[in-house]
Amino acid sequence: MMNTRLAIPALTVVILLASCKKETVEPDFSDDYKAGGATTIHSAGPDAYTFPLANIDGAGLARHTEADALFEQQFVTAPAIRFGGLGPLFNQNACQSCHIRNGRSQPPVSPSDQASGLLIRLSVPGSGEHGGPAPVPGFGGQFQPKAIFGGVPEGKLAWTEMQQIVQFLDGGTATLTRAEYRIEEPYQPLPQGILYSPRNAPPVFGLGLLEAVPEEDILALADENDADGDGISGKPNRVWDVAAGRTALGRFGWKAGSPTLDQQTAEAFSQDMGISSVFYFPQESCTGQSNCTGGIGDEPDIARETVETTAFYAMSLAPPAPRNLEDPQVQRGKMLFLDAGCNNCHVPTLTTGNHPLSALSYQTIHPYTDLLLHDMGEDLADNRPDFEAGGREWRTAPLWGVGLTQVVNPNARFLHDGRAATLEEAVLWHGGEAEESREHFRKLPAEERAALLAFLKAL
Ligand code: HEC
Ligand code: HEC
Repeated sequence: MMNTRLAIPALTVVILLASCKKETVEPDFSDDYKAGGATTIHSAGPDAYTFPLANIDGAGLARHTEADALFEQQFVTAPAIRFGGLGPLFNQNACQSCHIRNGRSQPPVSPSDQASGLLIRLSVPGSGEHGGPAPVPGFGGQFQPKAIFGGVPEGKLAWTEMQQIVQFLDGGTATLTRAEYRIEEPYQPLPQGILYSPRNAPPVFGLGLLEAVPEEDILALADENDADGDGISGKPNRVWDVAAGRTALGRFGWKAGSPTLDQQTAEAFSQDMGISSVFYFPQESCTGQSNCTGGIGDEPDIARETVETTAFYAMSLAPPAPRNLEDPQVQRGKMLFLDAGCNNCHVPTLTTGNHPLSALSYQTIHPYTDLLLHDMGEDLADNRPDFEAGGREWRTAPLWGVGLTQVVNPNARFLHDGRAATLEEAVLWHGGEAEESREHFRKLPAEERAALLAFLKAL
């Protein structure tokens, strides 16, 4: 008896010492400021997403400047001496009309809202060429609500809003709103049972770094059958690489449906602007449709070089450095982010390999993504497969620079369809593999929820 009694206080002292020691270790955030390694720029203003890589050389800077002009260029109807080829059908006439100040677009506020960059991908069930989505006869793979003079647009966008209330454990509530989109007044009857995927334009900085992360590093994070039993699988998308003529890892877009920045850019020219390109997409996006009249020449609208120079813009835009990381609330928020398991998908640190643009090579970066697909539950599902990505699966959105989203564009919103007006709403929409994480957040007291959100705001 005596011995046991004596043993208890002794043990208690040891435990106390151990926990004291743990608490006095200062978290080291100094490296976290270098979101993009040596490429990182320091700006927290409305133009925070518009700077070239901090370590780019003179030749790179000259190409970046040329590319910037192409990204801002408003394309016009053919025939034009320069920058012609818009349409016949299109969504917007310039890259930056959707990627506002290189950040996000906003969902439409009214059916006649011309400024919205939200687009709707369309398909019929099953798969099309090379295992991609199957286009809708008469409408293709994307809804184009605009046509050049004399052309017939595909129809009008309409939607119904739905709300749901989330109850926090400590009493408060949040109201979540989302829109279900449909096409009204189609130029010809829409086939039954078509699949819709609304997509809001994401920001375009830091993407060269994501392209430079070695494929094997991304695959090493995948756990498709959840072998480690943590409830998080993570699966690579496998898509068609037009330039390589083979299947490749998907990296870009909300479902990682595109393998390279060159191809993503050529797809944007083709699908979003109706501009065909040599080598990538030589045919008009509406070829074969009965409303595809006017503006069609025999030649593709732009050269392969124009596509690749435009892609260089996104490739060479720097991620902005985080702010206020020493703030105790932000530090607490980072701990809570890790406690909630957000980092299982939003992986804080990746390393780039060799890249033809040397400024991007061998950088330790903090993008907060694994570039993998995750089942995000029924509420976020679009129920439209995109290569290997299922209807409930989305690529982990990178969180670097996310805190500056509404500084860059006050009307910008979060998640693939822009349904979340705030970072808090974005977290509350998480489900599926992220349900446990979301529940962790929902059950936190208000003060700790605020700390976690302060950390996201600092990124
Ligand atoms: C009509 C609006 C619109 C226009 C115009 C547009 N984009 Fe996009 N962009 C989007 C949307 C929406 C996505 C997400 C697509 C997806 O999920 O597949 C996107 C994705 C991207 C991405 C990938 C971002 C990422 O994080 O993976 C890049 C790069 C990009 N666009 C570049 C361009 C370029 C270059 C142009 C001009 C040639 C352009 N965009 C024109 C709406 C637009
Ligand atoms: C299972 C993987 C997973 C986990 C765990 C997870 N996320 Fe996400 N997160 C995603 C995916 C995938 C998206 C994109 C979903 C979409 O757009 O529909 C996303 C989107 C977001 C966005 C919006 C980003 C944008 O660009 O609009 C924020 C903010 C975010 N997550 C924060 C968090 C936080 C905070 C946690 C922890 C409480 C967390 N996430 C846990 C996978 C995850």
